[in-house]
Amino acid sequence: MYKTSIIKIDEKNIDIEKIRKMAKLLQEGKLVAFPTETVYGLGANALDPKAVEKIFKAKNRPADNPIIVHVSDEDMVYKLAKKVPKKALVLMKKFWPGPLTFVVKKSDIVPDIVTAGLDTVAIRMPSHKVALVLIKESKVPIAAPSANLAGRPSPTRAEDVIDDLYGRVDAIIDTGETYIGVESTVLDLTSRIPTLLRPGGTTLEELESVIGEVKLHPIVKTEKDIESMVVKSPGMKYRHYAPEAEVIVVEGKSDEVRKKIIELVDGYKKIGKKVGVMTVCKSHEYKTDIIKFIGESLKDVAKNLFTTLREFDKEKVDVVLAEGVEEKGLGLAVMNRLRKAAGYNIVKV
Ligand code: TXA
Ligand code: MG
Repeated sequence: MYKTSIIKIDEKNIDIEKIRKMAKLLQEGKLVAFPTETVYGLGANALDPKAVEKIFKAKNRPADNPIIVHVSDEDMVYKLAKKVPKKALVLMKKFWPGPLTFVVKKSDIVPDIVTAGLDTVAIRMPSHKVALVLIKESKVPIAAPSANLAGRPSPTRAEDVIDDLYGRVDAIIDTGETYIGVESTVLDLTSRIPTLLRPGGTTLEELESVIGEVKLHPIVKTEKDIESMVVKSPGMKYRHYAPEAEVIVVEGKSDEVRKKIIELVDGYKKIGKKVGVMTVCKSHEYKTDIIKFIGESLKDVAKNLFTTLREFDKEKVDVVLAEGVEEKGLGLAVMNRLRKAAGYNIVKV
């Protein structure tokens, strides 16, 4: 059991002394959860295998799931990567700091535990000011997965981190809500044509407008349980983002989706289930226990998705019926997370 301190920091008026204390903890091999623009991360010194091991323990993370290394300047990239491909340079210039992670061959300084034994490393420079200053002050690259227990929805508020990791980490920095709400985009630059391993805050369209063709790893749009598939990024195979309730995604034209959900609500109510509906259409009404409107723009939907899944759990619903969105822009990341949360329980209409 850890004694967890919770430190509030105002991103607009950063108290550097507080950050230095947190940076010192990281240098001592301790665990500090911190905000990024996407979701909260659970940080440790990426160059200290013992510290990184603590991340796996705190999260109950399977050892074959590699961790993203966070940097605050480009020099750190040259130290972590064996070679920095041209496309990485272009991407860094255009999208960093921001919600883009790229995968390149790793250098010898990156411990095997960080990359789960792979010969590649995933690197990202977050744009959240507190994250950047924290990394800079700690003077080392920071390994950080999302700060949730393995299998739970990613945390977009310090409260979510506290729910999952209080007593399991040394400190939690609280700056309020994160901005994007889904995790960073993970792009593999070791293949001839860059491969999108996980859609996220930087959209496929944005990437293609800068580096041309990007392949989608089949896992990105999968609609099946992929335990059996051969995967490139081992983390992708786990049932992530899952709330306690059974989740069903209904995909199709808005009107048809509405009709189908009305029918499903009816069916579940008849057998005495507590049903929640997650809608992306303000005008949709359902005769159900709880209805949550999570926004009409993809930006709002992405931002509220994980939070809303966690809220449904707190309200102890048995079933969540979720309206799908178009797989465009941020919608690709939203649908990827939603299908996973549903354990690929998808109804198409
Ligand atoms: O937005 C984010 O990316 C957040 C914040 C905290 O930065 N972090 C995050 O980390 O989402 P995590 O651990 O929850 O997800 C990392 C993803 C996993 O799917 C993992 O398998 C993949 O990145 N990954 C990490 N290293 C990799 C590598 N060397 N090759 C392929 N995939 C890798
Ligand atoms: Mg995660």
